[in-house]
Amino acid sequence: MKKILVINGPNLNHLGRREPDIYGSLTLSEIQKYTEEKLKSYNLEIEWFQSNIEGEIVSSIQTSMTSGVDLIIINPAGYGHTSVAIYDAMKMIDKPIIEVHLTNVYSREDFRQTMLTAKAASKIMSGLGKNAYYLAILSEIEK
Ligand code: DQA
Repeated sequence: MKKILVINGPNLNHLGRREPDIYGSLTLSEIQKYTEEKLKSYNLEIEWFQSNIEGEIVSSIQTSMTSGVDLIIINPAGYGHTSVAIYDAMKMIDKPIIEVHLTNVYSREDFRQTMLTAKAASKIMSGLGKNAYYLAILSEIEK
């Protein structure tokens, strides 16, 4: 059994209501259900964590180092463009860590073109919407 930690950053708890033309109409818990349904034939333990607080995301990454997590999927949201602290925490991880963004950040505003935490990720995915999470997980377990 693989243990997977899925971390979601600020404002993703408002998915479904938040700029639905950009982020889609599904809530985060609907995306979670969709992801788990897609992966139900695999023997996975998937823990979902969401926080609007930078330090809580850092702590969650740190805790994963000793809790047997095999793979981290992280959507750092806005912190992906700014957070040295999350970057530093990601650098400490010796397991695969995949950064996902629902939207294609490269087609958006200039301030989203700085991808700070992505430099510490093993892989990144951007623009695949609700499919990002299960495809990121599949990319590791179906290698
Ligand atoms: C996002 C993209 C970020 O630029 C933005 O701040 C988010 C969501 C995405 O999933 O597309 O909050 O990470």
